[in-house]
Amino acid sequence: MQSIVILISGSGSNMAAIVKAAQIQNWEQKYQAKITAVIANRPDAKGLSIAKAAGIETQVVDHKKYPDRTDFETELTKVIQIYQPSLIVLAGFMRILSGAFTQQFPEKIINIHPSLLPAFTGLHTHERALQMGCKFAGATVHWVIEELDAGSIIDQAMVPVLPGDTAEKLAARVLTQEHLLYPRVIAQILSHHNS
Ligand code: GRF
Repeated sequence: MQSIVILISGSGSNMAAIVKAAQIQNWEQKYQAKITAVIANRPDAKGLSIAKAAGIETQVVDHKKYPDRTDFETELTKVIQIYQPSLIVLAGFMRILSGAFTQQFPEKIINIHPSLLPAFTGLHTHERALQMGCKFAGATVHWVIEELDAGSIIDQAMVPVLPGDTAEKLAARVLTQEHLLYPRVIAQILSHHNS
């Protein structure tokens, strides 16, 4: 069975979309894949209760409890290793991961970023897209490497920027697409692992 671990920091709406797709599409039977854990770096991450309600094991590795990134990542690695994942899915996980961490899991970590990479790495992507007068925005799923938001692109979804858009309106339009894009990409990776 392929093990999938999902890392979150907040509302977990992407994680919820992935969990739902896994149930509806029966990933256990179709891909011999199972979401074995949802791990949050914040004890108050709303997504934790969604995962629990779906019967998924949850763990918290609270970054505030560790003196530095190295100690936090050492503990995070320990917890992740319990589940021996073949795929680590960052879904709104708001900690930068060091090269020492990412190199432990080569070609196993993916992330979703709310812009059409390589444009707008980092934060405040929607505000910056509006400021620049972009006519299209979107989201990108990419492999995670040490450099932030810079790993190779697996797939993207695009939405139009509409007259009168605010960052909030644009974010909501992009998020709707993220919820379709991320499960689709994961299913592709799982089927590729199986072939
Ligand atoms: C999403 O927009 C994702 O692209 C970004 O953070 C947001 C997380 O939302 N990395 P959620 O926690 O999945 O609801």
